[in-house]
Amino acid sequence: MTRRSPLFVGNWKMNKNALQTRSFVESFLPLAENLPANVGIAIAPPFTALAAAAAALRSGSRVALAAQTMSEFSEGAYTGEIAASMLAEFNVAYVILGHSERRFYQRESDATIGAKVRAALDAEITPILAVGESLEVREAGNAVAHVLAQIQAATGELTEAQAARIVLAYEPIWAIGTGKNCDRDRAQEIARAARSARRAFADIPILYGGSMKPENAAGYMEMPDIDGGLVGGASLEAHSFARLIAGAIAR
Ligand code: PGA
Repeated sequence: MTRRSPLFVGNWKMNKNALQTRSFVESFLPLAENLPANVGIAIAPPFTALAAAAAALRSGSRVALAAQTMSEFSEGAYTGEIAASMLAEFNVAYVILGHSERRFYQRESDATIGAKVRAALDAEITPILAVGESLEVREAGNAVAHVLAQIQAATGELTEAQAARIVLAYEPIWAIGTGKNCDRDRAQEIARAARSARRAFADIPILYGGSMKPENAAGYMEMPDIDGGLVGGASLEAHSFARLIAGAIAR
């Protein structure tokens, strides 16, 4: 079986202004340029730093841009929202949708997330659909069912061709920002169940996220259904993020 290309996405959350973003890119680009060409790399700065990131990355760069969310609507009276077409102006290639912090703090529902996934695909931006269970759900033995339900709710209306264009990110909520990363076999179990949920998912990248660090990234990459990482804290510093990616793909 040919291995799917690895993909690593740095989710900066509400960190870094434009100046800090420029300085990250200046340090990170030379490091990223030394990584194998088949490895996909993206950073997701806050909206206000996208222009600075796009300018510093230059066109055709080794590093792609991602957004952390977007509106499900194409334009209009939605104060504070950002449309897919506005992201496209900065050559944004990916958008993280359904992150557990947005599900929790912004009360994003599965229906809203599904509408955002469709809007991203319509705009030719690749959605990175984040799913994952709470500790309560895991302890009740319902992690797989919970994640599959989230995926079904957000992608059930997609055609096979559309579903084959998404990226999935499994991020158990209890592992995010806690330093308690998920056991790789448990992550693989979920990734396998997600991939098997639909034929269209056979070749999509499935990422793991939740305290992925340079020290543990390689272990996930040995799992047959995990193709990379959605990385929060360890993506904020250029050397740490480059070291994580280099270590993950080394074996
Ligand atoms: P973390 O965050 O790597 O800091 O745990 C991952 C994420 O929330 O995407």
